[in-house]
Parts: sequence; C-alpha cells; structure tokens
Amino acid sequence: MNHFHYKGGVLHAENVSLTDIADAVGTPFYCYSTATLERHFKVFSAALPKDSLVAFSVKANNNLAVLKTLANLGAGADVVSGGELRRALAAGIPPDKIVFSGVGKTKNELTAALAAGIYQFNVESEPELIALDRVAEGLNRKAPVAIRINPDVDAHTHAKISTGHAETKFGIPWSRARDAYALAASLGFIDIVGIDMHIGSQVSDLAPFEAAFAKLTDYAKELRASGFAISRIDFGGGLGVPYRSDNAPPPDPSEYGRLAAGALKGLDAQLIVEPGRLIAANAGVLVATVTYVKHGENKDFLILDAGMNDLIRPAMYDAYHGIVAVEAPLPDAPLHDYDVVGPVCETGDCFARARPLPPLKSGDAVAILAAGAYGATMSSAYNARPPAPEVLVKDDAYAVVRPRLDDDAFLTADRIPDWLRKA
Ligand code: LLP
Repeated sequence: MNHFHYKGGVLHAENVSLTDIADAVGTPFYCYSTATLERHFKVFSAALPKDSLVAFSVKANNNLAVLKTLANLGAGADVVSGGELRRALAAGIPPDKIVFSGVGKTKNELTAALAAGIYQFNVESEPELIALDRVAEGLNRKAPVAIRINPDVDAHTHAKISTGHAETKFGIPWSRARDAYALAASLGFIDIVGIDMHIGSQVSDLAPFEAAFAKLTDYAKELRASGFAISRIDFGGGLGVPYRSDNAPPPDPSEYGRLAAGALKGLDAQLIVEPGRLIAANAGVLVATVTYVKHGENKDFLILDAGMNDLIRPAMYDAYHGIVAVEAPLPDAPLHDYDVVGPVCETGDCFARARPLPPLKSGDAVAILAAGAYGATMSSAYNARPPAPEVLVKDDAYAVVRPRLDDDAFLTADRIPDWLRKA
C-alpha cells in the first residue's frame, strides 16, 4: 500500500505531481510520502500488543523529516551509530524510546548514548559488556542492557542481509548466552533488562520468525527462572515488503503481530520491534531522467541520470525494484526490453536487465519504486556525484528535506595541504 498514483496521466506522490517536483528540484531526487510512512507505522503498531515499543530502524531512512514524521506518531528509534543517535534525538525521538544495536559501538558512542539516557543497549559481545560497564561507571549511571543472542535460525533471505545464523558476526552465540548473562550480572553498572535478536531483513516467510521467537521466549523464561530480570523482549526488525507484484506478498503485519503476541503469552514482558524496511520502503521513490537511449549490439540501454551511488541495492544484492514512466504510457503502448543503467563507470551500475517498459526517450522521467528504505541512506559520492536530494510530500505540499549539495560545497569539502600549495 502506498500513495504514488497516476493522476491526469502523471505519477503523483499523494497530490503532488512528480513532474512538478522534477522541474523545481531537478533529477535525480528521492521523494517520500508522509501518508504512506504514517499508514505503515500505524498499521504495524496496531498489530502489536499494547505498550510495545516500535523503534524505527534509522539505518533504513535517516532523513530528519522522515524521523520527525514518525516521532510525531510515537515512534522510537533503533540506532546503530553515534550519528544515527544524534539524528534520532534531533528529530525529537525521546531518549527513552531509543535502543542502540550494532556489533562495534565505540567508547564515544556508548558514552553519548548513556549520557542521553537511552532506553536500552542491545549488547552484542562480552567485550562490549565490559566496555559499557566501564563507561557507565565513569558516568556513575547504570546501563540498561538486553543481550543480543544469535538464535542460529536461517531467515531464508539474501545471504548479505541474513544476520541470525551462527556464521554471522551478530549477537552472542547461543552456546555462550548463559555465561554472558552471568557476566552482565557480575558487573556493577550493568542493569539487565531484556533479551534481543534480529534474524535478517526482507524476511518474507513467517516460519523463521516463529522458530526464533519460540527459541528466544523459551530462553527468557529460563533466564527468569535463574533470577535474571528479563522484562523486555526485542524481536528485531525484518518483515519483508513486496518489491515485485508477481511474487507472493510477504506476510501481513497482523499475522506477524499474532505470532509475536502468541510467543509472548504468559511472559508479561514488553515487546520491542525494530522495523525499517516495512515502514519506509514503499513510502519512497527515486525519480530520474533518461539521459540517453543507447542501442547496444543486441540490447537497448536506458541511461539514467541516477546511478548506483544513489541507489546501490540492485548492484549490491541483485535487488529488484519496479520502474515506471512518470508520464503514464498509453494503455496500448508496446513494451520494449531495456537494460536500465546509470552513468557510473561500473558494469554493475545497472538497475534492471531486460526490463519491459513502454517506449522512452531522452528527457523522459522514470520512478524507481520502493526506494524509501536503504536508498538514500546507502548512497555515496562515487564518481564525484553528489547524492540525490530528498523531498517529502504531504498531501498537496512538498518540501526539499535534504538539498542537493551544490558543486562548490562538494568540491571545497576537500583540503589541499600546504606542501602541495607551494609546489
Ligand atoms: N534491527 C537490526 C538490529 C538490524 O540489523 C536491522 C537491519 C533492522 C532492525 C531493520 O530491519 P528491517 O525491518 O529493515 O528489515 N541494506 C539492506 C538491508 C540491511 C538490513 C540490516 N539490518 C538492503 O537494502 O536490503
């Protein structure tokens, strides 16, 4: 469900024409829909037990305006760096709704998070527990901790975004979980509050969740029986989204909610979830213009002004994204197979291969769909291309919420050292 639709022959975000934004802002740009963000957040939250904390995974989309939109609905945040923590706080997400995940939190990051008074540290190793205890002692403040356990479950998703099996760097191995809790209990400035997991992203089947939820909640009961105060269960993020209309749709949030509530039954613990993709993916598109149509030896290339530096998912994970013309094609327009590519000097700079599209020509705009999660946040300046700006739409209004870096600002970020100036 999203709010990108054709009206009067032009693709709109809510009630704003993408052509109008393109004319004003230039392409490429990301465009997000407030209504879609809000709907996804509300539908997912409503599917969960009352008092659950829905901590939006900031890595999916860290634009301050997007975070503020969600903060206004009561969202918390799942952050994985000091930078994401700053963004979450700057967007007005209360510290007592922020959880901090990640395998490599530095002393500075731990200090900043503890000083801010965040809700929970999802600790991923024994050395991190010890480092956090020291930082907490320095601040004379107890650190609320959930230990992230690696449940060793196959999430049936892309290998590069699968996190919950024993071969990955994430979480403390199941076999050492008990020792990790004992270590935490022995540290003076660690306050054990819960247990955490995350099995992967774009999970499109409930079975791995079911297995992992059961494993984690059974273990939480055991820990309680041994005297550990487990009052929060963090199930991570990970419900997939429908990138392709011809694939079976991912499970509905209500099914996920039922499963989570069932697993928590009788535990009297707060549920924490960290959804990213499911909130933001379908709330955003990347709008680009066709620079050239090039006839290759045996195929045609649609060369866009957006590249893998703007949206790396196809190059990195062979991810599928729908692509549509911003000006609606005639209903009987013939389809033609194009390789849709960017201008970056890499063979992998390809958004789609042999994609059937209506005839397109230089100057036509296209929208790459479901790009609101892990799009702008993973962009780079490769090939000295400033990342695409971001626009947020609300009904018939829009605002540029992250401007394009102007060419001078981009250039003058670098410094020439003295010895080169003198040469
Ligand atoms: N919590 C933790 C600890 C995570 O590692 C992640 C994602 C999430 C929550 C959010 O998961 P979600 O609800 O979005 O599935 N760049 C990749 C996705 C990497 C996800 C990494 N962790 C992509 O574009 O597909």
